[in-house]
Amino acid sequence: MCGIVGYIGTRTAYPILIKGLQRLEYRGYDSAGIALMDNGNASLYKCKGKVRDLENLVSGQNIAGTIGIGHTRWATHGLPNDVNAHPHKSMNGKFILVHNGIIENYASIKKMLTKNGYKFQSETDTEVLVNLIENIYLEEKVSAETAVQTALRMVVGAYGIVVICLDEPDKLIASRKSSPLVIGCGEGEYFLASDATPITEYTDRVLYLNDEEIAVVSTNGISLKNLNNEAKELVISRLNLSIESFDKGNFPHYMLKEIHEQSTTIADSFRGRINNDMTQIMLGGINEVIPRIAKAKRIVIVACGTSYHAGLVGEYLFETFARQQVEVEYASEFRYRDPIIEEDDVVIAISQSGETADTLAAIRMAKEKGALILGICNVVGSSIARETHAGVYTHAGPEIGVASTKAFTAQVIILTMMAYLIGKRRGFISDETYHSLIEQVLEIPDKIKEILKDEDHIKEISQKYVEATNAIYLGRGFLYPVALEGALKLKEISYIHAEGYPAAEMKHGPIALIDDKMPVFVLGTKDKYYEKIVSNIQEVKARKGKVIAVVTQGDTTIKHLADDVIEIPEIDESLSPILSVIPLQLISYYIAVMRGCNVDQPRNLAKSVTVE
Ligand code: G6P
Repeated sequence: MCGIVGYIGTRTAYPILIKGLQRLEYRGYDSAGIALMDNGNASLYKCKGKVRDLENLVSGQNIAGTIGIGHTRWATHGLPNDVNAHPHKSMNGKFILVHNGIIENYASIKKMLTKNGYKFQSETDTEVLVNLIENIYLEEKVSAETAVQTALRMVVGAYGIVVICLDEPDKLIASRKSSPLVIGCGEGEYFLASDATPITEYTDRVLYLNDEEIAVVSTNGISLKNLNNEAKELVISRLNLSIESFDKGNFPHYMLKEIHEQSTTIADSFRGRINNDMTQIMLGGINEVIPRIAKAKRIVIVACGTSYHAGLVGEYLFETFARQQVEVEYASEFRYRDPIIEEDDVVIAISQSGETADTLAAIRMAKEKGALILGICNVVGSSIARETHAGVYTHAGPEIGVASTKAFTAQVIILTMMAYLIGKRRGFISDETYHSLIEQVLEIPDKIKEILKDEDHIKEISQKYVEATNAIYLGRGFLYPVALEGALKLKEISYIHAEGYPAAEMKHGPIALIDDKMPVFVLGTKDKYYEKIVSNIQEVKARKGKVIAVVTQGDTTIKHLADDVIEIPEIDESLSPILSVIPLQLISYYIAVMRGCNVDQPRNLAKSVTVE
């Protein structure tokens, strides 16, 4: 979703801003723009399209200036076009602003400004905000900082903003509420961005802005206050990210790289969390609250998208091993439903980015109701990670492809370890079983490598279904959420309509769709549902559907029934989601590539959904 960059220092801002915008491309966007300040004069360039279109627009123009801001826009109010692109300039030219978020009361503010003589060029809520700031500045004759503070006290909604005031051209003013903003601190130079991705190559010292904080950044330093003008402490954190982790390496797409990385990212997720003799799982981030989790009557998991599917696997895990009641909720539904949350409930938020607006709002609400809030996040220092009482980082490294792959398997392995740990503590897992499960966790990386060796075969299978217009994914038990995830992967990057179903539910609707053109992906590994899944496959075949089955190595029964099979190594059924999702990730990747789709940046999608 919208990406913000800003630079103030002694170097030419333009290349830093463009590179920063490129680094943020993965978030998803439809237009881009920059504003540069050179000796008090502003140049503003913006257009619909990609950052390279912006570069073409700017080519041959004045790019001088050591202060600037940039933006990639994911349209919320108004079409993606040149006029609606950011930055936005106020009517009298005093302020320029970039914004991520939604100003919910923009209509009433716009009305008030219109009465004051303001005219608007765009359909955006952002132009309303920049004019509100200017109106306050001119009418109340206050500093730019005070004008921004006053304006932000009036707005309802979410914002991450960076503002330039042309009368005070030696500073950038930044603030946030519910939309992320990070300031990288160099020597006499500062890098502002929606996330740390563009900052990593310049500095590892960062300041994460908190909600309703306002930072005034100049080459002399940062002054941090709240919206009531009270000073706030500057807390500088260290980033632990390498610049290489943002490159594609030798892979044609980030998504393929991230699928392949899973043998190492899974190991990174459990590294240091299992003792040498494989008798203990240690999750430092939740250690102190383990007694409270073990006592919880109910666990509520909130998440969106792929993270929600990981949460569904979590439900099976906690119920099976810890014998605790689990509810998995779409964060967007949960937050508006006034759900019943008791003080002895544990709420687990799962989020790769740690910035998803609905998930963030959901945990804030549950926190107010007194529940223990845990986070399973990938991005260190993200809003959700900071607002939870305790949590476990997934350590999957930066995930750039919009379609989540390695973050999903990392979330699932963390949930698995949590469920085993709590189950053991609650006395539902014997020492022997615990040891055997832990042993199998450690074997996952090698088993993933084995699956990836079959990539050419998986690619050949994908070729057969490139022309499909619909697809069904079926699974049962632990593998039902994987069916949902497989379908999501296919639809989000190849634009083929796909539905995931619990295999037995097929008879209650989807079976009507099956004909000789319908690919049906079936998760049919050897578990307690195996015989049932075999029957479901027969039902599909009886209607001439094409069955592509993921099976356990050495399977013969399904091999005879299915059109195509992909074998995966044997593993405990609680760990099979991690292995069985990988062929489905590869199939969706190859089908999308063969259909000529933009795999890493699919249309209309955003990596980090920072508006509700
Ligand atoms: C977006 C992304 C998905 C992701 C979902 C939740 O829709 O495109 O890949 O699963 O948001 O994001 P989160 O960062 O909270 O896991």
